[in-house]
Amino acid sequence: MSSRETAVADLSDLPVLKEVVQRSAMVPIAKKIVMTRDLGVHGNLFGGTLMAWIDEAAAAFATEYCFTPNMVTVRVGEFLFRKPLKAGNHVRIYAAVARLGTTSITLNVEARRYSLYSGEETLVCTTSITFVRIDDDGTPTPIGETVRHRHALNAA
Ligand SMILES: CC(C)(COP(=O)(O)OP(=O)(O)OC[C@H]1O[C@@H](n2cnc3c(N)ncnc32)[C@H](O)[C@@H]1OP(=O)(O)O)[C@@H](O)C(=O)NCCC(=O)NCCS
Repeated sequence: MSSRETAVADLSDLPVLKEVVQRSAMVPIAKKIVMTRDLGVHGNLFGGTLMAWIDEAAAAFATEYCFTPNMVTVRVGEFLFRKPLKAGNHVRIYAAVARLGTTSITLNVEARRYSLYSGEETLVCTTSITFVRIDDDGTPTPIGETVRHRHALNAA
């Protein structure tokens, strides 16, 4: 390995760069508009509604990525509501594969407020979600080799 490659490899170990790389790998998985029926008592989007939007979008992405409809949520990480969303706000949900295990897939998920006028996106919520592939009896079953191979190529 050249000294330049060593330097790059060392830099990519920095947490801040890891976050930048991971965020750039994020793909859009859903778009929503906040309706007045979605608001809580403080006039902000109700947290449970955003959680449901994220769960549904992440499940759709995970099952498509793993090429199977048979996946269940086993774990939801910390939900951090960083900024409020108001009626009429456009919301974009993004995901990146954080880990592909034997039977499970973990996604990092972000919701961002999207400005129609400037195209600017503001981070409003972050979380992570893990889904497990199950068989007809509800027992964890390995994610397919083809999926694993494609994932390895994507990650390279
Ligand atoms: C998901 C479920 C099938 C896992 O069964 P289990 O016997 O605990 O599974 P295992 O211990 O064999 O683990 C299976 C996978 O789940 C992962 N897992 C289990 N518990 C976990 C946890 N707390 N956090 C993250 N991953 C976890 C394991 O790491 C493993 O992944 P890997 O194969 O990629 O390494 C079972 O817990 C279940 O049916 N839960 C209810 C699911 C549900 O109804 N969800 C809500 C609606 S979709």
